[in-house]
Amino acid sequence: MARTINIAIAGLGTVGAETYRIITEESDFLKARSSANFNVVAVSAKSKDKKRDVDLTGVEWIADCRDIADIDNIDVVIELVGGSEGVAKDLVEKAITNGKSVITANKALVATHGNNIGELVAKHDVMFGYEAAVAGGIPIIKTIREGLASNRLSKIYGILNGTCNYILSVMRETGQEFEDILADAQRLGYAESDPSFDVDGVDAAHKLAILSAIAFQTPINFSGVYVEGIRLISPIDIDFATELGYRIKLLGIGELLGNGLQQRVRPCLVPVNIPIAQVEDVFNAVAAEAEGLGTSLSYGRGAGAGPTSSAVLSDLLDFANNRRTSFLGTADSELVVRPIQELQKLSGSYYLRLQVYDRPGVLADLTAVFRDKGVSVEALLQRGRNPDGTVPVVLTTHETSEEAIQKSVAEFEKLENVVEKPCILPIENFAG
Ligand SMILES: NC(=O)c1ccc[n+]([C@@H]2O[C@H](COP(=O)([O-])OP(=O)(O)OC[C@H]3O[C@@H](n4cnc5c(N)ncnc54)[C@H](OP(=O)(O)O)[C@@H]3O)[C@@H](O)[C@H]2O)c1
Repeated sequence: MARTINIAIAGLGTVGAETYRIITEESDFLKARSSANFNVVAVSAKSKDKKRDVDLTGVEWIADCRDIADIDNIDVVIELVGGSEGVAKDLVEKAITNGKSVITANKALVATHGNNIGELVAKHDVMFGYEAAVAGGIPIIKTIREGLASNRLSKIYGILNGTCNYILSVMRETGQEFEDILADAQRLGYAESDPSFDVDGVDAAHKLAILSAIAFQTPINFSGVYVEGIRLISPIDIDFATELGYRIKLLGIGELLGNGLQQRVRPCLVPVNIPIAQVEDVFNAVAAEAEGLGTSLSYGRGAGAGPTSSAVLSDLLDFANNRRTSFLGTADSELVVRPIQELQKLSGSYYLRLQVYDRPGVLADLTAVFRDKGVSVEALLQRGRNPDGTVPVVLTTHETSEEAIQKSVAEFEKLENVVEKPCILPIENFAG
């Protein structure tokens, strides 16, 4: 006889309502995948009176979602409230401590408190599913933790935030400024009313920290991620990048440098002819590299009700089918604490855009700085004069160190003909 799995869902917003709808409307399909009946016993959200598109008849309403953790007959708590602190954290920790399995889409919580949660999960021997926390419709946690488990991964990288990718795509297509597109995206519901987590790179950093931990068998280290967002990218950078044969993408990159871990989220130039450069609009893509494997690339929708609930429900089916792995795919005793490698340790090619007064000797001053810092210029482009007498100058470099670039930029900023903070973007040439 099919067993019954009792579920409580906290949070009935974009993801919670869709998850509830599928569990209740697609019960036969889910049963065929698991031989289990799924029974939503209780739900909770902030406002009981809010009109919702789902039928909650017969389901117990829990006013304070944390109380779900104390309901005896619940097997799985699905946490879809969000936030790294507050009720979501309280609920998750209390539910695990009370012996309940937990499924969540909460990347902020996992990135910030995942190591403690992992300890609790091991101690209380429950399942903790967080596939939905990274790249929704792409099963990237399973891909790295299980599908690629035999590989010593050396690098992972990807487009991890759909809002930023959408903004950069539209900037390229229309030539509009960042702020105008962000305002449109907010009107269309693609961007939050407070967009800072997305556009300042924090959301991508949460996801990168989670993926790096799994890929490199190390505890999650969110504070060790270098984070830069896309606010300073202007349409002129996008035009120059196109002219030079590149696209600008906000990438999360995690890699092993010796025994150390380097994690960064920053806008980068990528050659237009590599697959990740072709990922447009709200789509995500994540690549993993290892010797022997080469590059394995996954692509899909990273957010939204459908893709995210798909990931939540795949965790639910794993629970029903008793498919369990350790929290990060490596026994806790085998995790290696890796020193964080600073950005300065990186080397590569760079794109720099400077706004300068169009006066004799300016270019000589710029190239003299690079000469003194040992940086070799690959290309130099200059565009038409603005009414205020300034021109944008773009320099791309041959392979050099991040440190030499940072020191050069500090010198550029002292030059009287340089009028704004230079825009520096690394050029990432990935292995095929
Ligand atoms: N949306 C996506 O595309 C997406 C993608 C990946 C991951 N996620 C993650 O999924 C989670 C949910 O996101 P979402 O987009 O579905 O959020 P949402 O639409 O804002 O829904 C949040 C839900 O939580 C409820 N809630 C808020 N504060 C609460 C409290 N103090 N006590 C109980 N319930 C509370 C809200 O109640 P009311 O309905 O009464 O306001 C709402 O039902 C977050 O962790 C998010 O990061 C979302």
